Amino acid sequence: MLPRPLTNALYGLYATHVLHMADRHGVFAHLAAGPATAAETAAALGLDPDTLERLLLVLEAFELVERDDRNRYGLPTELAPYLDRGGDRHIGAMSAHMVNGAAAQLGRLDAYLTRGKAGVDADLPAPFDVIYATPESTREFLDAMWQIGFDVSAELVRLADLGGVRHLVDVGGASGAFCVSALRAHPGLAATVYDLPQVGPYLAERTEEYGLAGRLEFAPGDFFRAAELPEADCLAFGYILSDWTDDTCRELLAKAHRACADGGRVLVMERLFDEGRRGPLATSVMNLSMHVETEGRHRTAGEYADLLSEAGFGDCRVLRSSQDKHLVVGYKTRP
Ligand SMILES: C[S@@+](CC[C@H](N)C(=O)[O-])C[C@H]1O[C@@H](n2cnc3c(N)ncnc32)[C@H](O)[C@@H]1O
Repeated sequence: MLPRPLTNALYGLYATHVLHMADRHGVFAHLAAGPATAAETAAALGLDPDTLERLLLVLEAFELVERDDRNRYGLPTELAPYLDRGGDRHIGAMSAHMVNGAAAQLGRLDAYLTRGKAGVDADLPAPFDVIYATPESTREFLDAMWQIGFDVSAELVRLADLGGVRHLVDVGGASGAFCVSALRAHPGLAATVYDLPQVGPYLAERTEEYGLAGRLEFAPGDFFRAAELPEADCLAFGYILSDWTDDTCRELLAKAHRACADGGRVLVMERLFDEGRRGPLATSVMNLSMHVETEGRHRTAGEYADLLSEAGFGDCRVLRSSQDKHLVVGYKTRP
């Protein structure tokens, strides 16, 4: 038998695809409702029983489902919130994005290794032109962002301590996961998502779903073409700086500094590499994914604090959540 790290690396390709298939075809949702055999699950969902049983055996081997002595499969208690479609940490759209978005672009790694990223990307469309190429890819991406963003946002809002903030502008705020959490926690707050025009309809859906009309606005715009960002006493950048190079981050944070009220603050919410960059594993993987899907990389807390300081923000603090997305805050001092 291969050593465990090699087994995981070699066969992990199957785990990602099987995870996505089981989510897409409602297998996890079915098992969340109660334990069932492979045959019962296949019959209930109209799936091929032989194929489904093989999928379930892979999921069991990767410890993503468990099986009782009557051959009935179920979800491990600690994984149910992530696997069940109704769970508050459901990762289905993220697994779809890994298979349909990220994996589809991984083929470029070979060319990146031999020719370098710049030379290869010169002939390609810009990252968000690819991501927003069709309504399907747009929804899949924005759903994935919501899924990896909404649950942790409540914690990030608490860490950010927004009590004195009047107007939050979420730069590249997508369909509004962070703004929705902030507005629910702070009844006196108003918020604006500033993002590409394609995002508008998806933000409107969430605005209606959470009854936030009048408090959550959309400002369509392109943060590269626009000379200035909308003004606010709090500007947020969630998973934005990791899409771009250091120089581009400097440009965005300089605009944020000009748009920020005196005494206001900027929130950078990101995965963080450990000092020494030995992990966490998800950050190491997504750092490569940023290389393939965008122009960015993941950074240590210290690197974000340095970027904030260079842009003129002071009193930088790192506030870690219990999940993958953390907060680095910088303040614009009063003159
Ligand atoms: C990785 S997503 C992050 C979404 C969200 N802030 C979060 O924390 O999950 C990057 C966001 O930046 C937006 N974006 C990309 N390029 C942009 C541009 N030039 N101007 C404004 N927004 C942009 C995308 O539409 C997308 O919503």
